[in-house]
Amino acid sequence: MSNRTFTMIKPDAVKAGNIGNILQMINAAGFRIVAMKYLHISKQAAEKFYEVHAERPFYGELTSFMSSGPIVAAILEKDNAVADFRKLIGATNPAQAEEGTIRKKYAASIGENAVHGSDSDENAQIEGNFFFNGLERF
Ligand code: RTP
Ligand code: MG
Repeated sequence: MSNRTFTMIKPDAVKAGNIGNILQMINAAGFRIVAMKYLHISKQAAEKFYEVHAERPFYGELTSFMSSGPIVAAILEKDNAVADFRKLIGATNPAQAEEGTIRKKYAASIGENAVHGSDSDENAQIEGNFFFNGLERF
């Protein structure tokens, strides 16, 4: 079990003015910020990031959405980071997300669901490496 995960605050939550609220919830849940940046990725970069979903029917919609405006990308640290962060963000579909989760509070739909959280230690590392080099981690 590694103790790091990777997250993005997605364009819908940035547009809605919820960066501060979401970072507050992340801090309150005991995650330490290892790396963080605010950036607007291209459609091509979103396609590369979500390559594992290339065959899924929502791939085009997802990559257009993720390149539609700025995001916040971050590496987070905590014991059991991947699983605990998935718990904090809630189900992919906010209609099924538990009370008190980030998606329950701030997500509008399954497509535009406010935050990303890595689904395994291996993917946390791959995704963190996609956005951050060694000089950008503290
Ligand atoms: P994420 O990767 O963003 O943390 O979300 P997740 O693991 O809960 O969901 P995943 O299956 O990995 O899907 C990635 C993202 O694709 C969008 N999606 N849209 N329209 C749809 O049916 C649909 N299904 C998934 C969501 O933005 C989801 O977070
Ligand atoms: Mg996922």
